[in-house]
Amino acid sequence: MLDKIEALKEELNGLVANGVDEAEELRIKYLSKKGIIGNLFDEFKTIPADQKRVIGAELNNLKKFAAEKINALKDSFEKSEDETGGIDLTLPGDSIKMGSRHPLAIVRNEIIEIFARLGFVVSEGPEIEDDWHVFSALNFPPEHPARDMQDTFFIEKDPDVLLRTHTSSVQVRVMEKTQPPIRAIFPGRVFRNEAISARAHCIFHQVEGLYVDEDVSFADMKQTLLYFAREMFGEKTEIRLRPSYFPFTEPSAEMDVSCSICAGKGCNVCKYTGWLEIMGCGMVDPNVLELCNIDNKKYTGFAFGMGIERIAMLKFGVKDLRLFFENDVRFLNQFQSAF
Ligand code: DAH
Repeated sequence: MLDKIEALKEELNGLVANGVDEAEELRIKYLSKKGIIGNLFDEFKTIPADQKRVIGAELNNLKKFAAEKINALKDSFEKSEDETGGIDLTLPGDSIKMGSRHPLAIVRNEIIEIFARLGFVVSEGPEIEDDWHVFSALNFPPEHPARDMQDTFFIEKDPDVLLRTHTSSVQVRVMEKTQPPIRAIFPGRVFRNEAISARAHCIFHQVEGLYVDEDVSFADMKQTLLYFAREMFGEKTEIRLRPSYFPFTEPSAEMDVSCSICAGKGCNVCKYTGWLEIMGCGMVDPNVLELCNIDNKKYTGFAFGMGIERIAMLKFGVKDLRLFFENDVRFLNQFQSAF
């Protein structure tokens, strides 16, 4: 019996546990009524009376030793859980998800940067406008179809309050306030009463540009827009100006860029023409300068306007314009590393 007690003491000395639960299991194993030490007490009843005193003392010692050892194990865990609030500090941290810029913001910022290199500053105007800034000062005749209820969002109570249909309205606001030289671009949101489809939306974004100074020529415009096209779509890009009509420019043109997808060879994006239309432009009509109180004998200028969605679709190969407005993170996340 004394040997057994000695062996158990040694065993108890080397006890380890991996948490409060395991320490409790050890308490049951050694100290419960049916446990190892409990059984020794049962056995104790059967030993000869003359040995009882010595063995009894040893047995009590063993029980005390076991209780101390197991309580110490339990305490150590309870303490460490208190200190860390029960949190395992060795676990790896949660990874931080980086947000991403919206593709339209990426393209807008790139347009701003390209024109900034040519000395263009950025200005903005209001989205809720009046007839003067959106139409009249831009030389739209009173009966022009763009004023039609079909295209423009008006307010029933006051037909002079409307949502701007183009950012050209900011040209007027800037020219009314500032005398040339003016070299600025105006990014912003515009609104048209159009059915929503893969190619059209009732809300979209434009960037308007305006350069007014002495001796500004059509050649200046062409060179500026060629620079823009090559910065935006690649240095091999060619441009083509087709005669067009806008009330606020004379002459007016529409600008195409060579298709960056097929390098001008013809594909389904450029409809096998090799060219993609990306903006309207022209020399500011002298009437517009006059309506904005700028001396049209002294100054000339050019203006241009483009849709940001259209450029983003071409640049990123997006086939449906509605994707830009749905804010589906599976779509948005794809532009993470673009800029
Ligand atoms: N405002 C025109 C539109 O929304 C675009 C435009 C064309 C702007 C010619 C211009 C320009 O400044 O000169 O379709």
